[in-house]
Parts: sequence; structure tokens; C-alpha cells
Amino acid sequence: MKYSNLLVPTLRDAPSDAEVISHKLMLRAGMIRKLAAGIYTYLPLGLLTIRKVETIIREEMNAAGAQELLLPIVMPRELWEESGRWPVYGKELLRFKDRHERDFCFGPTHEEAVTDLVRNEIHSYRQLPLALYQIQTKFRDEVRPRFGLMRGREFIMKDCYSFDRDEKAATETYWRMFEAYKKIFKRCGLEFRPVEAGTGEIGGTLSHEFHVLAGSGESEIFASDDPDIAYTDEKVPADKICPKTKQPLKSFRGIEVGQVFYLGTKYSEAFKATYSDAEGKPQHLVMGCYGIGVGRTAAAAIEQNHDANGIVWPLGISPYSVQVIPIAVDDENVRNISFDIYEKLQKQGVDVLIDDRSESPGVKFKDADLIGIPLRVK
Ligand SMILES: Nc1ncnc2c1ncn2[C@@H]1O[C@H](COP(=O)(O)OP(=O)(O)OP(=O)(O)O)[C@@H](O)[C@H]1O
Ligand SMILES: [Mg+2]
Repeated sequence: MKYSNLLVPTLRDAPSDAEVISHKLMLRAGMIRKLAAGIYTYLPLGLLTIRKVETIIREEMNAAGAQELLLPIVMPRELWEESGRWPVYGKELLRFKDRHERDFCFGPTHEEAVTDLVRNEIHSYRQLPLALYQIQTKFRDEVRPRFGLMRGREFIMKDCYSFDRDEKAATETYWRMFEAYKKIFKRCGLEFRPVEAGTGEIGGTLSHEFHVLAGSGESEIFASDDPDIAYTDEKVPADKICPKTKQPLKSFRGIEVGQVFYLGTKYSEAFKATYSDAEGKPQHLVMGCYGIGVGRTAAAAIEQNHDANGIVWPLGISPYSVQVIPIAVDDENVRNISFDIYEKLQKQGVDVLIDDRSESPGVKFKDADLIGIPLRVK
């Protein structure tokens, strides 16, 4: 891509309502713009990073045996009455009426829609196990939308739902997803910890949150030197001692980028979602659900990877992998050599940006430092 053709409106200063560094830098680097509180437009550079995160998620979800589908964003009240969540979900659930005065909501999560699908389509143990995921826009009418993509009202989430024959198989699926999550956040270039967690609104019995370690994180987590042991404040042992190393747990700030839940039969019982086992007897499907905030992951990556001049993208989720910066682009020789490198990289399938603008080297380097593409040819 030629910089001169790219809509990348960089800013010298961030608007004053941007508090955290990722929000400031995403605005300054021309990645996002606010349309309303908690509602953002993704500009080309922002969308490229979002798509890179999504691609990593897709590859690892597919490798873990999950299949992609796309459920509706809008759901009827009746479905949420069946699960019992319509009266209890609270104001985060954005509700509205259609022209016939029927109640609907925008999906903040999709256990209802997917369990409805599966109860209609799955009948036999031979069709199991099944794991379905989507990457979709969610809406949660957050009381305090803030920090840009970190806590939006409209945001992109990957949500996956698993259906197994029994507790043992569902637990295996849970741990397979847990491992897939570790691979995803590693490929995104993040320093993170899986953390034992409570199950909150969604319900269930076993859950882990994945936290990116960053000073600006909203959550306090207690972590051992053993990278597999960490807790949220709800779950930390009273003496704050690691059960394995017997050493005191250390306190960190964390950004929750994903969460996995073992749901059991909570939704399958509510929805009468059963299959017939090998003896032909009906059994409730045993479920799990697994979410990742796509935009929040990109924002958390910036919280962890920036310097005084701007973003320093981990290569795996950088909008472009390489930026060519000819400093005297109006010199024919420089121009030819630069475009030659650019075209060669493109031919090899490298996603490359060339700063073909007739700007001073100072301006070009400042913009390059701000948008943070990690590999440069100059
Ligand atoms: N308002 C939001 N804006 C952006 N991403 C979000 C938002 N709410 C949730 N997410 C992302 O979706 C993932 C799965 O959703 P989940 O239901 O676990 O969120 P949550 O626990 O309610 O999040 P939080 O506690 O931060 O409100 C979260 O781990 C997070 O990465
Ligand atoms: Mg959560």
C-alpha cells in the first residue's frame, strides 16, 4: 500500500477525553475515531490490526476443532425469557421494540441463540462433540464506556460454544480451548496470564480469565512465579500463598482479554437441548463457552508495547509487517530503488507500506514512530 493512498489521519495530540495510552495512540495513529460514547469507527489501519487478531483467532479455533458460523446480532425477547436472563441481565442489555411492538435485544453474548440452533439440529451422540464460534459485533450498554476499544458499547468479540456428551468430554474440550487461548495470545505477542476466575452473569462452575499484564489494567490479579498459577481477587486463597511454590503471590494489574467457562447443563436444561445416547436415552448436552475481545486485545497490545514516540507493534498483529521509508522520494534514483524493494516484498507476499509522500524525513519518521510498524527499510 502507498501511504499517499491510505486514510491515516495522524494527530499531534490526543483528544483530552482519552485517558489511557492505547486509546491516545489509536486516535493519534489514525486507527479509530469515536462516533458516540463507546462506539467507534475502525479506520483502515485500525481494521488491519483487528483483522490480524481475527486471523490468528480463526486459525487456532479451527485447529482446536471449532467451526465458524454467524448468529444474528438481534434476538427476540422470548429466547431470553427461556434462559431466564431477560429479567435479570440488567441495563447492559440494549432492548428495543420493532414496528409490531415486539421486544428484541442486541446480543451481548450468544448462549441463547446458539443453544436454540443446536437443540433443533443436533439429535444423536454421533453428531458430538460440536464446537461453534463466530467473530461478531456485540453490544453491551456499559455504564462507563471508556478507554477506547478497551471498554466499548459496540465491540467485536469472538465467542465459541461447545457441546459434549458428558462432563468428562466437556472438561477435555474446556482444556483444549484453554490451550488454544494460550497459543492465540502468544501469537499476538502478548505477555499474559491465565487466571482462575468466578463465573459472574454467565453462570457455570469452572472458569479462567486471560489477563494481559499492564499497569493500566482494571483488575488486580495475584500471580505465582509458576506461570500457570494466578487468581482474580474473588478467587485468591485467603493467605495469598501459592499452593505449589509456597511463596507469597505477587499482585499485578491485568487487562482481561478473554475468558473460558465450563457451563455444564445450565442452558441445555433451560432450552431442553438434548441428544439421544447410544442406548437411545435423552441426555442434556454439556456446554462450555469461550470469549475473546478482539478490539480489547489490540488495545492491550499497545498498553504493553509502546514507547515515548508511539506504538511498537508485535509483528504478528502489526497493521503492516514492513514499512519502506524513502527519505528523498523526489530523487529519481531513490524512488526507483525504494519502489523496487516495495514491489519485491509485495511479490513475496509481505504486507508492506511505502511512505511515498513528498514530506520531510522528520515528518515521515515521526509518523512511522507513531504508527509503529516494527520492520523498516529506510
Ligand atoms: N465492553 C467491552 N468492550 C470491549 N471488549 C469487551 C467488553 N466487554 C467484554 N469484552 C471482551 O469480551 C471478552 C468476553 O466477554 P465476557 O463476558 O467474559 O466479558 P466481561 O467479563 O463482562 O468483561 P468485563 O469484566 O471487562 O466487563 C472479555 O474477556 C473482553 O475481552
Ligand atoms: Mg469475562
